[in-house]
Amino acid sequence: MQLLKKIQKSFWVSIFVFAGTLFFAKCIEQQDKSIGGDRLKPPEDFKGKAFAGSVVCGECHKDIYEKHLQTAHYLTSQPATGNSIHGNFDSGKNVFPYSDSIKVVMQHEGNDYFQIEYVNGLVKRKERFDITVGSGKKGQTFLYWNAAKILQLPVFYYTDYAEWANSPGYPGRVIYNRPITSRCLECHTTFAKKISDEQAEPEDFEKGKIVFGVDCERCHGAGADHVSFQRTHKDKGEARFITNPAKLSRLQQLDLCALCHGGKLSKTKPSFSFQVGDSLKDFFAADTSAQNVADIDVHGNQLGLLSASKCFRMTEMTCSSCHNTHENETGKIEMFSKKCMACHSTGHNNFCGLMKTYGAVIEANCIDCHMPVQASKAILFLRAGSNEPSTAFMRSHYIKVYPFETKKVMQLIHANKKKDKK
Ligand code: HEC
Ligand code: HEC
Ligand code: HEC
Ligand code: HEC
Ligand code: HEC
Ligand code: HEC
Ligand code: HEC
Repeated sequence: MQLLKKIQKSFWVSIFVFAGTLFFAKCIEQQDKSIGGDRLKPPEDFKGKAFAGSVVCGECHKDIYEKHLQTAHYLTSQPATGNSIHGNFDSGKNVFPYSDSIKVVMQHEGNDYFQIEYVNGLVKRKERFDITVGSGKKGQTFLYWNAAKILQLPVFYYTDYAEWANSPGYPGRVIYNRPITSRCLECHTTFAKKISDEQAEPEDFEKGKIVFGVDCERCHGAGADHVSFQRTHKDKGEARFITNPAKLSRLQQLDLCALCHGGKLSKTKPSFSFQVGDSLKDFFAADTSAQNVADIDVHGNQLGLLSASKCFRMTEMTCSSCHNTHENETGKIEMFSKKCMACHSTGHNNFCGLMKTYGAVIEANCIDCHMPVQASKAILFLRAGSNEPSTAFMRSHYIKVYPFETKKVMQLIHANKKKDKK
């Protein structure tokens, strides 16, 4: 692999001499991020604007680029390889039994990885892992190509238990024929070119025209024009042909994140037609499934929950008030707590009622008391040998006082104090 990369690199370097830089830089990106297809034509977005690929952005925004490679956004979809698939293929660990006679075995042959269904010891169906969906923080779903259709493999990988499981939402039998929709890809890739009619189902996609991951150009718009402008205007510091969300209205900024973090929106326009700066309501009908906060699931609707919080309603807060999406911030609870204290402090006279008694212990972690982790009612899946569905746990964005969680955290604080005294 290393050698292959080197050969590819030197090939491109020698060709550079004869051709425009931009064109071929795009091709290298294509090779990195797409599987198959016509590598000489970079994909274009819904409106025909060309992508450049994040490798190219990295030339001038090196810092952001390198950090972004570590994010759940970037890793949320990839071509399936030994690296990107998180599950275990070792014998004994690579089986998901559906019954005494039916099982699915995860197996690799050379560079190809398969999910193979056995009935009474005989192979019934064998499909390849082509695409991984999910950074693997909670788990991964796997997809395969069947002509121009993309379908879901039966077995899912569940990170918390480090084991294979039946795909979320599946009944306890082997299913190979669930088609993947453009809306699913709209949340988990930067772009996927649909080639079937808008109404036709299941949908067809073009193999080489998928830009994997939630990458730079999902949030900033397709950037080939920006790249060629900045390359030829090196003296000019100012940016052209690219969108910085920070310069948009609050609603526009929220709409960008809500495209994927705004709950069950039903589309009124084709997937991938919404671009940064657009107004979400022109592309989706409002979510009417959750009438009050208690109905909003912690999975996939951070905006819905945040919108119910006083912090959000009484300020101009956006997601960027706490998140820097260019970095992997998972688990940085102290950093997030500092964001709270930008608005809540003794100085602002609106600090936590527990501050007087507990002081600095509290400052390091506002989060577990005011944004506790809760069970999702939407992501349910079966573990091997179980009839009861398991669930995923997620951070609630409904910021308020939670008496039960406070009790739990206080117990921990007391226990730690005792330990320190001893
Ligand atoms: C040839 C160098 C170059 C490349 C390649 C490049 N940029 Fe830029 N970009 C700049 C310069 C110069 C600026 C203006 C100064 C700054 O904000 O850093 C800029 C600014 C930006 C801004 C802020 C715009 C604003 O109005 O504040 C964003 C967002 C951006 N770039 C994204 C991207 C993305 C995404 C890519 C890849 C598709 C990319 N850039 C590729 C040079 C480049
Ligand atoms: C195109 C869809 C899309 C857009 C737009 C999007 N996200 Fe995400 N986001 C995702 C997906 C999918 C995940 C889950 C990735 C995974 O773990 O596989 C995610 C995960 C996250 C996470 C969790 C990261 C972690 O380490 O677990 C944060 C925080 C986040 N997004 C914030 C934002 C913010 C803020 C915005 C707006 C600036 C935004 N997202 C825009 C799709 C999107
Ligand atoms: C999930 C959405 C998302 C992704 C993916 C993303 N950005 Fe950003 N980017 C933003 C937001 C939001 C801002 C504005 C942040 C703020 O409010 O200050 C921003 C700001 C910027 C800026 C302006 C200067 C700065 O540092 O704030 C540049 C340059 C930039 N992004 C480049 C990139 C590049 C290059 C990539 C890919 C390696 C990338 N972005 C990926 C959402 C994203
Ligand atoms: C409306 C946008 C949206 C759609 C549609 C969507 N997802 Fe997600 N998905 C997310 C977001 C956001 C997250 C992470 C945060 C959360 O769960 O709230 C996520 C998380 C995941 C994860 C867990 C990733 C991890 O490791 O934490 C998997 C796997 C996944 N989605 C698969 C899929 C598949 C497969 C489809 C389509 C059949 C799909 N999703 C449809 C937005 C979406
Ligand atoms: C942009 C400013 C801002 C940020 C950031 C912010 N808040 Fe708030 N928050 C407010 C305002 C304004 C109120 C309502 C008035 C008040 O109580 O001061 C509020 C209210 C609250 C309340 C009372 C809620 C209720 O229903 O009575 C809690 C608890 C709270 N915030 C905790 C937090 C925590 C924890 C964080 C960080 C995760 C945070 N806030 C971040 C501005 C903010
Ligand atoms: C051990 C759990 C716990 C921790 C840690 C904690 N809080 Fe609280 N917080 C509470 C409880 C319980 C209340 C309500 C009782 C009270 O105010 O005395 C509260 C009240 C608040 C309020 C509402 C005050 C009002 O008068 O409406 C704010 C704002 C707040 N907390 C912010 C924070 C911030 C910011 C942090 C981190 C620096 C933090 N809290 C850490 C449990 C906690
Ligand atoms: C007041 C601060 C604050 C704001 C505003 C905020 N978040 Fe978060 N977010 C957090 C904290 C704290 C976490 C937990 C981080 C952790 O546990 O690693 C988190 C986690 C997440 C996660 C991962 C959830 C999980 O359990 O895996 C996603 C996705 C996310 N935020 C998206 C968003 C989006 C989208 C917005 C805007 C609608 C937003 N956040 C606004 C503080 C905030």
